[in-house]
Amino acid sequence: MEELFNKIQSAASFIQQHIAAKPVVGIILGSGLGGLAETIAIDHRLSYQDIPHFPQSTVKGHSGELLSGKIKGKEVLAMAGRFHFYEGYSMQEVTFPVRVMKALGINTLMISNAAGGMNAAFRVGDMMIIRDHINLMPEHPLRGKNDERLGVRFPDMSEPYNKDLMKMAAEIGQKENFRIHTGVYAGVQGPTFETKAEYEYLHHIGADAVGMSTVPEVIVAVHAGLKVFALSVISDIGIRQDNDPITHEEVLEAAEAATPKMTKLFVEMIEKI
Ligand code: HPA
Repeated sequence: MEELFNKIQSAASFIQQHIAAKPVVGIILGSGLGGLAETIAIDHRLSYQDIPHFPQSTVKGHSGELLSGKIKGKEVLAMAGRFHFYEGYSMQEVTFPVRVMKALGINTLMISNAAGGMNAAFRVGDMMIIRDHINLMPEHPLRGKNDERLGVRFPDMSEPYNKDLMKMAAEIGQKENFRIHTGVYAGVQGPTFETKAEYEYLHHIGADAVGMSTVPEVIVAVHAGLKVFALSVISDIGIRQDNDPITHEEVLEAAEAATPKMTKLFVEMIEKI
């Protein structure tokens, strides 16, 4: 098997040949939150299937694209479509694009996701700045032989999320009168939504929101020495009285409805970075 490091290099050099500039900020857009892509003055679009060693989507017509361009004059590289562990990708595949973006020179990674709310103060459509996470995924993206060129064997995780970026997001959110919180994200495998007891349990152990993504990418980004900002859009409320089931459609709808707010926040942050 070809070494991970070589795969990263060949994917990065392919992308480099196809994009004009050096990206500064990497962006991963969550389910239903793709609207931010419309604010990018796109220079180049690369289909994932054309990039060497990029994970291949099995869903036809949903291969995903890497978008290169500018937001407020800053060079960004955005992933429209991400890979989830529950889809069957390995953790190395899920996080591969983060390593490639790092190899291309980004210094900041911004991530969005849809998440279920457990904090009683949260409502559908609220945003939550992730200040910390609890990794409950059954597999770790850094398990295996460590390549020191990518990062250290035992990375510190006491502060995965950049404090300055959190502060900046909170200030913009307040100025815009958004309903925005700061909290802890629990990353789970999925694809089932949680049972009532599981939502209670997750809240009990200190999580304010739960979702099926983000944590692997954040771990690899921290390993790589990137500054990280991550935001959840609360798409459903886990701890609640009614017996209504949670559906994927409801999650997507809520995320889409919150897209303009999330987009405004990200764009203003990128302008200030
Ligand atoms: N649980 C897990 N993942 C999710 C949820 C949820 O309630 N909502 C969106 N992603």
